[in-house]
Amino acid sequence: MTAIVFKGVHKSYGDHPPVLREVDLEIRDGEFCVFIGPSGCGKSTLLRMIAGLEEISAGDLFIGGNRMNDVAPAKRGIAMVFQSYALFPHLTVYENMAFGLQLAKLPKEQIDTKVREAARVLQLEPYLMRKPKELSGGQRQRVAIGRAIVRSPRAFLFDEPLSNLDAALRVQTRIEIARLHKRFAEASMVYVTHDQIEAMTLADKIVLLHTGDDVAKKGSLAHVGTPMELFHRPRNLFTAGFIGSPKMNFLKAKVVRGDSQSATVKVLCGPELRVAVDGSRLTSGADVTVGIRPDHIVGPDQSDQRMSCLVDIVERLGTATYLYTHLCDEPGADAGMVAVAPGDSRAVSGDRIELGLPSHALHLFDADGDALMRTVDLPA
Ligand SMILES: Nc1ncnc2c1ncn2[C@@H]1O[C@H](COP(=O)(O)OP(=O)(O)OP(=O)(O)O)[C@@H](O)[C@H]1O
Ligand SMILES: [Mg+2]
Repeated sequence: MTAIVFKGVHKSYGDHPPVLREVDLEIRDGEFCVFIGPSGCGKSTLLRMIAGLEEISAGDLFIGGNRMNDVAPAKRGIAMVFQSYALFPHLTVYENMAFGLQLAKLPKEQIDTKVREAARVLQLEPYLMRKPKELSGGQRQRVAIGRAIVRSPRAFLFDEPLSNLDAALRVQTRIEIARLHKRFAEASMVYVTHDQIEAMTLADKIVLLHTGDDVAKKGSLAHVGTPMELFHRPRNLFTAGFIGSPKMNFLKAKVVRGDSQSATVKVLCGPELRVAVDGSRLTSGADVTVGIRPDHIVGPDQSDQRMSCLVDIVERLGTATYLYTHLCDEPGADAGMVAVAPGDSRAVSGDRIELGLPSHALHLFDADGDALMRTVDLPA
């Protein structure tokens, strides 16, 4: 039983507005949960609360059914891996990994078995007698992970463990962490990152924290769900804009009519579009935002709904072509649209093109930024 449960948790520092508010969250036994959000949204604070390194201002935290608010960090059965590695520079790799176990007064042979087993899993055997300064960043990070493994914790906490590594090493270490999760399947893992590829690939569950202009929502949970739920059925504009690359396009529009199966909206400088959402609570004339992912835009012959756009900039990536377009004729009059076209697209700046916008690929958000329930999903 290692479920981690937050009930009505708040965190504030002095008189400042709360950093976290009304956090209700359950991380199940063995689950890989990723906290994601822009810098300063409270990811590390939420993680450090689980470890006991940050006081909880209000609400309760339970681990394995026991209230943890006042339990000392060392008694929580949890191991944390920091971005900075936090290794002892004067100790060898072996001694760094053994340190916590020696403090816990484990017998020497048992410590040796655990350290050697962790070194084998993490391919650190050749480096056991080296000091941290004689290792690369990736090797140091593996030692920090090894130090967590030897303690056989019931939960692993990671705070941006890969952000000091170069791009290639990040991918390699990300895959090692996925393997680690398989190997220690019974331990929960909570992982903080602002890299959405890490979040999408590692997580069973993503927790996206709110930030942005809306002060009343700052520090609350914008969306909790599986990676595909956040991608295909984002609950609000904030989630829709945060998950996915290139970013979802947002078009200003007004409601024409709606029923339980669809909504028809008129896009600013654009046509009327049918959107496959439950539009029964919409009133005609209301302001809404239409969302479409650049890679869900299709050719004009593949959709019965089209929109004419003026191509501004063309980026050719080889496998795909990114078209940056405008709807209104004078640039700056609308937010523009990015479309992903095939790699062999011949479009050039100044072209007027037709984009296909299938109704099942569109999202719709009301004036408060809340998504209307989709009635059809894109084929997976
Ligand atoms: N001791 C403190 N006093 C006042 N405010 C603090 C304190 N510690 C953190 N904060 C504030 O709490 C907010 C959340 O910080 P936190 O470190 O959890 O963010 P984060 O999401 O981990 O950001 P990053 O991605 O940059 O690491 C920030 O706005 C920060 O300024
Ligand atoms: Mg942080």
